[in-house]
Amino acid sequence: MADDYSHTVGRDRLVEVYTQGMLADRTPEIPPSFEELEAAAEEALDDEAYAYVAGGAGEERTVGANRRAFDRWRLVPRMLRDVAERDLSVDLCGNEYPAPIALAPIGVQSILHDDAELASARAAAELGVPFVQSSAASETLEDVAEELGDAPGWFQLYWSAEREVTASFVERAEEAGYEAIVVTLDTPVLGWRERDVDLGYLPFLDGEGVANYFSDPAFRDLLADPPEENPDAAIMQFIDVFGDPSLTWDDLEWLREQTDLPLLVKGILHPDDAERAVECGVDGLVVSNHGGRQVDNAVSALSALPRIVERVGDDATVLFDSGIRRGADAVIALALGADSVLFGRPYAYGLAIDGENGVREVTENFLADLDLTLALTGHDSVADVDRDALVPAAEWRPDRGADAEW
Ligand code: FNR
Repeated sequence: MADDYSHTVGRDRLVEVYTQGMLADRTPEIPPSFEELEAAAEEALDDEAYAYVAGGAGEERTVGANRRAFDRWRLVPRMLRDVAERDLSVDLCGNEYPAPIALAPIGVQSILHDDAELASARAAAELGVPFVQSSAASETLEDVAEELGDAPGWFQLYWSAEREVTASFVERAEEAGYEAIVVTLDTPVLGWRERDVDLGYLPFLDGEGVANYFSDPAFRDLLADPPEENPDAAIMQFIDVFGDPSLTWDDLEWLREQTDLPLLVKGILHPDDAERAVECGVDGLVVSNHGGRQVDNAVSALSALPRIVERVGDDATVLFDSGIRRGADAVIALALGADSVLFGRPYAYGLAIDGENGVREVTENFLADLDLTLALTGHDSVADVDRDALVPAAEWRPDRGADAEW
């Protein structure tokens, strides 16, 4: 499958669904629309798990802003440009990947499906799409690496208040064969998530999402008894060491020294932070507001993207997430300078609905939509997509071109 991207993944997907529909009278079980997908996941999940995935910080103004930001732009389809074969491949931090998408780090997947991250990793591997394994996963990074086999995986690091645990996670990720470390900077503490507060729900207190910690030698050294004997004490220790709000940019230099793998920072929204991160030697960054889960009424990730690309785009790989739902969203982010996007909640909903199959279907739909949108906007490769693909919505004045102010 992964090798097919250079041809016509979108057309192949359409042929598959239409022939199934017309010849076998079978329609897809996983809805193609994000809104219906979310509704189906709500149906499949208990109230707590659904609230945990769908919810955001405070009034959830950032969650809404992340979506509305895409409405400020319009794609301008171009004609007669020979788009018979599309090359979706991208180079990210020196590695080549078949398409400009990766599955975002999403922790605690056991609340969505019993197979948790193992299912998501299998689906990602089948499609050749990088899987980003969360520190807060329900399955260990080693078990997930085994599912991935030769397929690409990156490790998302939550920087623990215990430096030995942080160093140990990085070392384990290297040994397990992950291709990059993505350190998330926007979660020194958890945000105020009203839905979860209302339900009094935090999955970690149930012992979910702590597999990497409970299996970690440095973490286990902190405990009087092993987690198998005293899980409650181990959970409280996890809560104590999960984040480190005292970190500064100097600490990032320490992390840079811990690994030769490409290092990316996730959660960057200000160009000054982007520049500072590049000065610390990171290879890339993820422009993201954590899907609106941390700060209510924060800047939408898409609004933050162009200025960050302008500042550091030549010096670092720039990834984007927060609000990507459909192919057109990805093409807009690419046009604004992202090198690739992370796909988040949609695949989590696929997992909730139908495990590995659900993740694969949702991700394949997204890839197909992305490929077709590229073709229909006149691009035969991702590398070809730039600001000329876009105009500002509503205020577009052809005489002012794509750079018109809005
Ligand atoms: C996340 N996200 C996240 N990020 C991270 O760095 N480590 C993590 O463990 C998690 N866990 C997590 C759980 C759930 C349920 C969600 C929805 C999100 C954030 C994630 O990587 C990504 O930034 C957002 O999902 C992007 O927003 P959208 O596009 O999913 O709305």
